[in-house]
Amino acid sequence: MPQTARLPGVAETQGKLTRRSLVGGAAAGTAGLALGGVAGSASASSRRTVDCIVVGAGLSGLSAAHTLRRAGKSFVVLEARDRVGGRTLNQNLGHGKVVEIGGQWVGPTQNYVLKEIKRQGLKTFKTYTAGKSVYYRGGTLTQYTGTIPPANPASLVELQAVITELDSMAGQIDPRRPWATANAAAWDGQTFETWKLAHAVTPEARDLIDLGVASVFAAEPRDLSLLHVLFYIRAAVSFENLINTAGGAQDSRVVGGSQEISIRMAKQLGGSVVLGSPVHRIDHHGHGVEIRTAKGIFAAKRTILALPPTLAGRIRYSPDLPPKRDQLMQRVPMGTVIKCLAIYDKPFWRDDGLSGMATSDTGPVKLTFDNTPPGGKPGILLGFIEGQEARDLLAASRHERRKLVLESMARYYGSKAHLAKDYADKSWAADPWTRGCYVGYYPPGVLTGYREAISAPTGVIHWAGTETASEWNGYMDGALQAGERAAEEVLAKL
Ligand code: FDA
Repeated sequence: MPQTARLPGVAETQGKLTRRSLVGGAAAGTAGLALGGVAGSASASSRRTVDCIVVGAGLSGLSAAHTLRRAGKSFVVLEARDRVGGRTLNQNLGHGKVVEIGGQWVGPTQNYVLKEIKRQGLKTFKTYTAGKSVYYRGGTLTQYTGTIPPANPASLVELQAVITELDSMAGQIDPRRPWATANAAAWDGQTFETWKLAHAVTPEARDLIDLGVASVFAAEPRDLSLLHVLFYIRAAVSFENLINTAGGAQDSRVVGGSQEISIRMAKQLGGSVVLGSPVHRIDHHGHGVEIRTAKGIFAAKRTILALPPTLAGRIRYSPDLPPKRDQLMQRVPMGTVIKCLAIYDKPFWRDDGLSGMATSDTGPVKLTFDNTPPGGKPGILLGFIEGQEARDLLAASRHERRKLVLESMARYYGSKAHLAKDYADKSWAADPWTRGCYVGYYPPGVLTGYREAISAPTGVIHWAGTETASEWNGYMDGALQAGERAAEEVLAKL
């Protein structure tokens, strides 16, 4: 079971989107009516035939389904969980307020997600950044204004040189074919750690690079192919885009919580979204697929799997998938993150002139943000435990994590941080339908070794999910882009 804390007054809103409410909310006139009633009335032995079966009702699967719907094709979306949204998940704070315990931020150039937010009638608000931020290093706390932490000048010069070099190398990459870059073999033949050690010598610059990598991938530099890091930067346009708050990937949040995007998208698909339907096996042949679930048997000409590769690799295929695809799915592990929310009556740090943003060399929480909802209450400090810090705590109890997280917060914001009225966290590695976050990452040798197998169709099986995106790979934006791309592939074949 996911280790999301269930606290008085802090409950997952997933409970509000029950199977019944989703089916009941079926919008008349949708292509989904071809399957009207599937979710509510189908039995294990009922059989339905559609043009395409989408597996996974995260943003990517829902985006694929909407693309099929716009083209007038019939489809069904099979989702393992009793909710939609996948790696996005709202927690109810009571009084109509929510906070996200999964993916949350959006920023400039994330055109797919910004468009979908607008299409769904949702609004965004800026991440709180007013006031001074905290830099904690070697036991010393410094408050500073602006975006550059007060590291020693030599380290800052080195850091800037590293970022400029990374952006320049990333600029040489075609994000649709990163393996085709001139230097691909050399870049994919080393870890980002190897490259970092050769290009940054000061301990402080190295530590800040490690922190940046952990904050983006929830993994360590030693885990990642240099080519993958460069591709990821290219897909997000620049390194600063990935790590910046104002003007970067952490710029804004969705009023009502990011899961609301999926909830609204799913409602428009009505009975075509079948919750509580884990797909364990896919029978496929040259002309179509058949999937048996507890909610019925579904047959289609094509299927789109909108899942992280490691989850797609846990499905059985008959006949077996080609070994190249199978080996690829063995090689894209998920990052490790525990997202933690310390909840207070009000954002007390704002009264102290602080932004709620902290950067630290001391774990388990090395990065914090002000995650207070619009209106300013309750006050919420968000802390990330990422990469090795998270791996070290995977077996810890929630009680132990709460203690460690509040100690981290008190280090940055003083003893008031111990007075949290609520605490929630989610260890995404413990969630069987995600098994880690933020994203599946590519270790050395995978991008060049498996190439087109990453997103090219395998017969009648098409691959979506943010891990296959060429723009904002790993983000909500990439999930939507990948879903649309996979659906267009299907449409070209139908
Ligand atoms: P996703 O994993 O969401 O969807 C896959 C779906 O398939 C799930 O619903 C799953 O239940 C289902 N499924 C799996 N196996 C199945 C099976 N066998 N049968 C049927 N269904 C199955 N992004 C961002 O843009 N801004 C941010 O701030 C963050 N921050 C962040 C924080 C945290 C803690 C997390 C966990 C993630 C983020 N992200 C993020 C990443 C973002 O959430 C992510 O990129 C997208 O939500 C991924 O959407 P997908 O649809 O690709 O996969």
